[in-house]
Amino acid sequence: PVPTLSRDERGLRLEGVALADIAAAHGTPTYVYSLAALSAAFEAYRDALAGRPALVCYAVKANSNLGVLSAFARLGAGFDIVSGGELARVLAAGGNAARVVFSGVGKSEAEMRQALDAGIRCFNVESAAELDRLSAVAQQMGKVAPIALRVNPDVDPKTHPYISTGLRSNKFGVAFDEALTLYRRAAALPGLRVAGIGCHIGSQLLDGAPVVEAAEKVLGLVDRLAAEGIVLEHIDLGGGLGIRYRDENPPAVAEYLAPLLSLLEGRREELLLEPGRSLVGNAGLLLTRIEYLKPGVEKNFAVVDAAMNDLARPALYDAWHDVVEVAPRAAASRPYEIVGPICESGDFLAHDRELAVEPGDLLALLSAGAYGMAMSSNYNTRPRAAELIVDGERVHLARAREAVEQLYAGERPLD
Ligand code: LLP
Repeated sequence: PVPTLSRDERGLRLEGVALADIAAAHGTPTYVYSLAALSAAFEAYRDALAGRPALVCYAVKANSNLGVLSAFARLGAGFDIVSGGELARVLAAGGNAARVVFSGVGKSEAEMRQALDAGIRCFNVESAAELDRLSAVAQQMGKVAPIALRVNPDVDPKTHPYISTGLRSNKFGVAFDEALTLYRRAAALPGLRVAGIGCHIGSQLLDGAPVVEAAEKVLGLVDRLAAEGIVLEHIDLGGGLGIRYRDENPPAVAEYLAPLLSLLEGRREELLLEPGRSLVGNAGLLLTRIEYLKPGVEKNFAVVDAAMNDLARPALYDAWHDVVEVAPRAAASRPYEIVGPICESGDFLAHDRELAVEPGDLLALLSAGAYGMAMSSNYNTRPRAAELIVDGERVHLARAREAVEQLYAGERPLD
């Protein structure tokens, strides 16, 4: 699934760099991203949207490394953030605050102030209480906050229940039936300027139809608002386009956007999108080394130096990531459970994979660019992995491997 991954006599190569060389120079576990793949994924959106006012706001939560963010900033991306921390990252990476939208159900007053100071493009507001709080904060600062209401179109995105967000039963967004009332309220609040509308129905979507259904509902609302004199500047249709991890067949970006673009034809509102996974997921892999092989009665285990703290998706969602040998052995393959060193049975990265390997061999876990490092932790006092960005033959150290002392630098034993 990584478009810039290839194989030659030295084994797997990402762009022009052999993964074996990366492991030798930087150790493992290490996340490795391809700049060409990141750029190509962004350009697919840009090309499909050419000719209409649009802004692609990369969902920072998918991979918030400053190197990745700076790559998107250079390509002209906007950013979808969900915390003050993500805003700080975007600015540190050279992102433009005027292209930032701020999503999330729990924005604190401090985060609102920070975003107003930075001058972000829009707050995606998710409740009546948030409207009131934002208006008050903006007024105190002598500012006016641009807002969009995130409406909940109540469509079923047909994805994993943990990552579907547009159903009525979810905590996200404001109910469709309440949106009109809330827009009237927002329009009357002195600290707010109504700028747009947003929705996001879920992640890893493999079928574009639910988004089209959501967009139709949203457009209906936009027209009703216009009839009342509340004219919107933009329509934000969120993120969610899925990627191939195993054998999924998500629509290509252009194919996914085509029905949305025809719905929007002739409309003057700017289209905003918030893709995360589809921009970075298949641009990255997690490189790990086999510490031990443990042949067993029922199962063979390959104990690797990456674990659920590095890549939580298998443990959390039973997610599939392809596992490939960096340099396969000539010997016959056998099935392995790929597990990490963490003291939990849930610490697995993959089940039942046919591999021809020996201890010390390198493995690549593919499609790990999204929600990989971003969801990592220090469980078991494991320093987090290094992150590298490959650009042709060049390797950019995007994040140094953590040192153990960093992990407890803020702690103090009793006096
Ligand atoms: N916009 C909003 C408001 C979101 O909540 C999300 C993702 C996105 C955009 C980006 O969605 P994407 O294009 O990446 O599908 N940890 C899970 C995924 C959680 C997604 C949460 N929201 C995973 O590893 O699969």
